[in-house]
Amino acid sequence: MSDVEQLKNELKKLNSEYIKIRELPPEARGDFGRELNAKKQDILQRLAKAESAAESVEIKPIDISAPCAPNEPIPELHLGTRHPLMTELDKVIGIYAGMGFNVMESNQLDDEFHMFEALNFPQDHPARDGYDTFRTAEGFIPPAHTSTMQHRALKQYRKSLEQGGQIAVVIPGRVFRNEDVDATHEHTFYQCEGVFVSRDATMGQMFGVLKHFFESYYGQAIRIKTQPGYFPFTEPSAELLIEKPASLGGKGDGWLEMLGCGMIHPNVLEAAGIDSTQYRGFAWGGGIDRLVLLKYHLNDVRYFESGKLDFLEEF
Ligand code: DAH
Repeated sequence: MSDVEQLKNELKKLNSEYIKIRELPPEARGDFGRELNAKKQDILQRLAKAESAAESVEIKPIDISAPCAPNEPIPELHLGTRHPLMTELDKVIGIYAGMGFNVMESNQLDDEFHMFEALNFPQDHPARDGYDTFRTAEGFIPPAHTSTMQHRALKQYRKSLEQGGQIAVVIPGRVFRNEDVDATHEHTFYQCEGVFVSRDATMGQMFGVLKHFFESYYGQAIRIKTQPGYFPFTEPSAELLIEKPASLGGKGDGWLEMLGCGMIHPNVLEAAGIDSTQYRGFAWGGGIDRLVLLKYHLNDVRYFESGKLDFLEEF
């Protein structure tokens, strides 16, 4: 028992003595009371001393520069590192910025309008199911693709069209899908969206932009090809594939689907207040994770969200 506790016990015991005063003859009560009071004062003084001694023991000064407590082995220092996806995302954005694209940030919580209506998904159309969207109890949608930002990008930069310029924006963002997770599917991943509008935008220009992007990112010549696709927000729509470069394990026959793209549907332009008889645009969107996996010869997308430090620290 500590000194403080012991003294508190003594005090308690002493306090319970006071009741005995009643049983004493009146002439003896004064002396008895005075004696108890003197004892009490003594205990209280000792208690105060013991308490302040205990406090000063507890509040030991801390040496914030010490690597660890005295006599303990020095722990291995784990300094944080940048997440590899963020480092790669910067490179991606840098390449597009070099081509004159502005950069917008995407939302991590969005709504039905930006996810579907503004992108020309008809009400109750089965294409809505294809995105396996999560929903919050309040009815918000964690975006299933960065295309949810298209409407905002078109509106925000619409003025530059009126001033005789173009809209050129890329929008990286974190996206969420209610998917079964496996080596090639994650519920949370990153995409980068691109939106370009001018008086005479063409698909040829788009493929030029995308080929330049892939060649810059992988630092070598990259062959691309397209196959037809379907997205409600583009017409025509396509999927863009790149040939797996030999330096990344390709044998001249491996084509990888990298993104979806197409000419922006007139309804999407009009919904953002852009006259679709005067302006045309193209847009694309694709996963960052896949891009990075290929670059680093990795084959499991789950590592990125796993929090596995030994994996993350390799970068
Ligand atoms: N958002 C589509 C997806 O995640 C990809 C996409 C397709 C984006 C066509 C576009 C586009 O901007 O024009 O599957």
